[in-house]
Amino acid sequence: MMSTNANQPRKKNLWADSGKWILGIIAVALVTFGLTALLITIMERQTEAQAPFTKVVELDETTVDPEVWGQNFPVQYEDYLKTEEMGPTKWGGSHPVDPPEGDPRTEQISSSRLEEDPRLVTMWKGYAFSKDYRHARGHAYMLEDQRQTLRVRDFDQPGTCLNCHASTVALMDELGDGDRDAGFAEMNLMPYDEVTQMVDHPVSCLDCHDPQTMELRITRPAFERGIAALKASEGIENYDVNKDATAQDMRTYTCAQCHVEYYFESDTKELIFPWAKGIDLDDIYEYYAEDGHIDWTHEITGAEMLKAQHPEFDLWSNGIHAASGVSCADCHMPYKREGAQKVSDHHLQSPLFDANASCGTCHNESAEEMTNRVETIQDRYLHSRNQAFDALVALINDIAEYKEAGNVDQARLDEAYEFQKKASFYIDYVYSENSNGFHAPAYIHRILGDALDAARKGQIVLTGVPAADLEASETTLQYEEMMAGENR
Ligand code: HEC
Ligand code: HEC
Ligand code: HEC
Ligand code: HEC
Ligand code: HEC
Repeated sequence: MMSTNANQPRKKNLWADSGKWILGIIAVALVTFGLTALLITIMERQTEAQAPFTKVVELDETTVDPEVWGQNFPVQYEDYLKTEEMGPTKWGGSHPVDPPEGDPRTEQISSSRLEEDPRLVTMWKGYAFSKDYRHARGHAYMLEDQRQTLRVRDFDQPGTCLNCHASTVALMDELGDGDRDAGFAEMNLMPYDEVTQMVDHPVSCLDCHDPQTMELRITRPAFERGIAALKASEGIENYDVNKDATAQDMRTYTCAQCHVEYYFESDTKELIFPWAKGIDLDDIYEYYAEDGHIDWTHEITGAEMLKAQHPEFDLWSNGIHAASGVSCADCHMPYKREGAQKVSDHHLQSPLFDANASCGTCHNESAEEMTNRVETIQDRYLHSRNQAFDALVALINDIAEYKEAGNVDQARLDEAYEFQKKASFYIDYVYSENSNGFHAPAYIHRILGDALDAARKGQIVLTGVPAADLEASETTLQYEEMMAGENR
């Protein structure tokens, strides 16, 4: 008793001081509770995903036809078939139009992006993309749309194109006599017209699922190698995606086998993802500069150019959702109830067709509010993209005029070429990304700032100002250093 009394004043003080601490602890507890709740939801959804099923047919590595898988998994199969539905959102989805003259397709196809924005034709002059480039549509069409694009009908393409437009697992196994990597190399080297005869289905169950366990898996050598190179650039050696990736990673990586920036190696026609220096656009641009890879020579200006394509995974990697552990499937394959079980919606499409299902698991706002947020991000992005694009077209015109005027100073022209190449690749990179800025809003504005800057500098060097005079100021360089450092 005595000792307790003796301690009383001290205790009082302790409690008085602890007032702030308790508030602090409650705040920490609330945040922890929130984070735990989110983690639990994610984990719950992962275990529920492995709901039991009735095995009607045996599946193996040769079961390409999704209809056969559909006997065991009717719900997923029916949703998978719905990818043939078409329809627009404000900026995404697809607008059905009649096929142009001479196109063998009888049903409606997706509208032309070249007609929508003729600046694309100027940007890609001399390259196959300036002949035909349409809005993407659902997975059901990937094989047919590839066969019928003028980029295939009017140009010779390698078998490499097939990697992302068909179910190729069984084909690669067959071509490589059981060795998938050898089959991949073989497929890439064959002419497209020949190899496309050997497949019948767009991406199918077999491409994303192990036929025995139904677990997600990576089947594309290009991604296995690309992600290993990316991890190595982050200091992780010998990364084996099918062993080392988490279940949550796989909900993104299965998509990243195709929804990425890529190029074909000129001799082997191997499909390569340019991530050995990292997945920031500056890293990718530097990778290409060192490698020396060139896609085409610009018909109007004569500059050597790079083409970018659909870097959805690349953009996502630089956004807040990736940083928060939110996968492609979380938004594009939301869970839904089918009787007693929860299933992943295999109708892959724009999340805006059902923002409640796609965003509502994590965000409390209404579907209207979430749609509004997406569209606001997209409208702002389009504003900046338009500015940068007008600047690029102005640069292309200026180079053409400069050459026409005669008296060409080759060093000056080469500097302008460098600026055209950079501005073009940076604009192309965000243009060919299909979320219209949503997957990484702040990042995409930085890229457009770089593109606008390059295009205007290209115009300035043509007037006789040396490129050296346009380099970053001392102050800017100091900021760059501070940004790279821990604190200042
Ligand atoms: C936080 C949610 C979210 C995540 C995560 C996400 N997306 Fe998206 N995605 C969207 C939204 C929103 C759009 C814009 C849709 C629109 O404009 O109609 C979009 C657009 C797209 C489009 C174009 C769809 C269309 O109909 O025009 C593709 C393709 C796409 N995303 C693929 C991916 C891939 C691949 C990943 C993962 C690397 C991914 N997304 C991650 C929300 C997400
Ligand atoms: C790394 C995977 C990958 C490779 C390789 C690939 N594509 Fe695609 N392709 C895609 C994705 C993802 C889309 C959907 C997103 C888009 O349209 O931007 C697409 C869309 C398309 C479309 C429909 C939209 C359009 O551009 O008109 C056509 C046609 C097409 N690709 C043709 C080709 C051809 C031809 C080749 C070979 C030169 C090829 N693809 C190689 C992944 C790939
Ligand atoms: C084998 C390659 C491949 C894989 C794997 C793949 N996609 Fe695609 N995806 C494509 C191609 C090609 C198209 C365009 C088809 C067309 O336009 O004919 C496309 C189209 C889409 C579209 C419709 C775009 C639009 O504008 O309407 C969405 C959404 C999409 N994919 C999301 C995903 C998500 C999410 C994943 C992973 C769960 C994924 N894809 C996995 C190749 C692939
Ligand atoms: C582009 C990749 C892709 C394709 C193609 C695909 N799936 Fe899936 N599937 C997924 C993803 C991602 C999940 C979520 C798995 C997880 O979170 O572990 C999934 C989950 C499943 C599940 C587990 C239960 C559920 O719904 O979450 C079943 C069963 C399934 N898919 C069947 C099929 C069938 C049948 C087909 C062919 C008709 C198919 N899948 C095609 C990516 C794909
Ligand atoms: C699995 C959970 C999850 C899903 C599904 C999800 N989000 Fe998010 N979202 C997050 C988290 C976590 C953050 C980061 C919040 C933070 O740190 O403040 C975030 C942030 C955002 C932001 C702020 C972005 C920024 O740059 O600050 C927007 C806008 C957003 N989400 C829109 C969407 C939309 C639209 C969808 C549906 C298409 C969606 N989200 C689906 C978890 C999710």
